[in-house]
Amino acid sequence: MLETIPDLSRAPKHRAYPELFAYIVSTLAGIDDDVAGMATISAMIHHSLRHLWTGFYRVVAPDLLRVGPYQGSLGCLEIRFGQGVCGTAAAERRTIVVPDVSRFPGHIACDARSKSEVVVPVFDRSGGLLGVLDVDSEKRAAFDQLDAEGLERIVRWFAGEGRG
Ligand code: SME
Repeated sequence: MLETIPDLSRAPKHRAYPELFAYIVSTLAGIDDDVAGMATISAMIHHSLRHLWTGFYRVVAPDLLRVGPYQGSLGCLEIRFGQGVCGTAAAERRTIVVPDVSRFPGHIACDARSKSEVVVPVFDRSGGLLGVLDVDSEKRAAFDQLDAEGLERIVRWFAGEGRG
């Protein structure tokens, strides 16, 4: 079991994400539990990449997301499908990278310091939407395609192989 989470915040993304993925997989090996998985993944992403907020919103009703395990300041408790970046990603079942949240219509500012974000949908093995993973940054344009792909790989593993 790893005792510390590596600081990958200064590593180039093409190196940081594979390393982060390997740490997550080895840390969660043999643990088939959604809450333990989401909590551990949030902590590992948050403390290695050092952004402002990292966490999951779960689908709890046909068009409703409710906050799940996360790291950072207080997150909004519930988000309707179609609202904000998380609700849009859930409704459209696609990853959304927002370089400047002030230009995203309907962005929900849980923390006024948030300037950019990436939201990745989490699908189960049969394509059902389990929730979304949201990462927010204090910097503008902190996220790009490499973040989208790196985070998608993590949630694919979590919702597939990682769930036993
Ligand atoms: N910014 C998000 C809301 C969630 S939090 O920032 C934690 C959005 O517009 O979906």
